[in-house]
Amino acid sequence: MSLPAFQTEWEETDNEYQQLQETDKVYKQKLEELTNLQAACSATITKQRKSMKDLRSSLNSCAQQTCRDEKDAKLMEDIQTQIDHKENVFVDMEAYLPKSNGLYLKLVLGNVNVTLLSDQAKFAYKEEYEKFKLYMTMILMFLAITCLFFINFRVTDEIFNFLLVWYYCTLTIRESILRSNGSRIKGWWVIQHYVSTVLSGVMLTWPEGQTYQRFRSQFLAFHIYQNFVQFLQYYYQSGCLYRLRALGERNQMDLTVEGFQSWMWRGLSFLLPFLFFGHLCHLYISATLFRMARDEDCKEWQVYMLALGFFVLFLGNFLTTLRVVHQKLTQKLEEVARKLAQKLD
Ligand code: COA
Repeated sequence: MSLPAFQTEWEETDNEYQQLQETDKVYKQKLEELTNLQAACSATITKQRKSMKDLRSSLNSCAQQTCRDEKDAKLMEDIQTQIDHKENVFVDMEAYLPKSNGLYLKLVLGNVNVTLLSDQAKFAYKEEYEKFKLYMTMILMFLAITCLFFINFRVTDEIFNFLLVWYYCTLTIRESILRSNGSRIKGWWVIQHYVSTVLSGVMLTWPEGQTYQRFRSQFLAFHIYQNFVQFLQYYYQSGCLYRLRALGERNQMDLTVEGFQSWMWRGLSFLLPFLFFGHLCHLYISATLFRMARDEDCKEWQVYMLALGFFVLFLGNFLTTLRVVHQKLTQKLEEVARKLAQKLD
């Protein structure tokens, strides 16, 4: 390279470097502004919450003290509704503000900020969580089939159980992060993964023997079925996620709320029989283990522990799924009633 050509290239690179320094300066300034805004918002929310709480109790005592006319009663009802609305708005605002982690995340990650600052980042994280579950389901399905039909070695069983412990642990962390980013995952689904982590840990410690071998096939067959259901769940959950994102981004033009609702109900009615059959499997496994525990030659504590654990899983999963369906049906009926009332008006 000749010296003048070298000099031109050097100047171009140097200009780019100067620009980079400017951009970096602006970026750091904005970051500081952002941090200040976040602190200001968080402080005002805390102050507002306190004021709302005081106002609510003053309103209640005011309502109890004197008998008001219709106008005053309406005014009080209006204020009450506005306070409720504001409290919901605070929750929405907080989904975009840094906050201190709950006990579990503090123990696992320390007090690092896990709040994602944009809707895109939140969707991407959720999408990644669903994909992670899908890939792990494939791996676990492969391992369960291999262990059940091809290899009956303690080592492969232990690898499978160890992977389950790691997988469920990881899910609890990811789900806690999702929840602190505004996801509406019901508490039970997270607890279910804590219970599953413990149960897989107990399976790991169950010593080789006649009782273990008697239960092994049932346990592996159940996991194959559970992973199959997980595939269906992935299809349903990622479909919901994709449609909800489209609703948010396209402002309800391409994809209507009714369209989403009808897709969701079709998906749910297909999925529910498989889910309920899975819950019955939990109950059946629990009953089998309780029966085994009553045998004279059964000395392992793991059998009782697993029987109890599977029963807890059955109860929790079954009741929570019923609750989800009941909630969705109630919402649907309310929606229909609201539309009817609008039409009549
Ligand atoms: N695990 C993790 N997250 C779950 C979940 C689960 N089992 N069920 C629901 N969620 C999440 C949803 O993705 C949604 O998240 P978002 O707020 O970030 O969008 C949120 O919780 C609210 O979902 P909701 O509207 O209550 O339910 P849904 O329509 O998404 O799913 C079911 C309903 C019944 C299909 C689902 O809860 C489910 O699959 N449950 C059964 C699990 C089970 O029993 N497993 C064992 C099978 S053998």
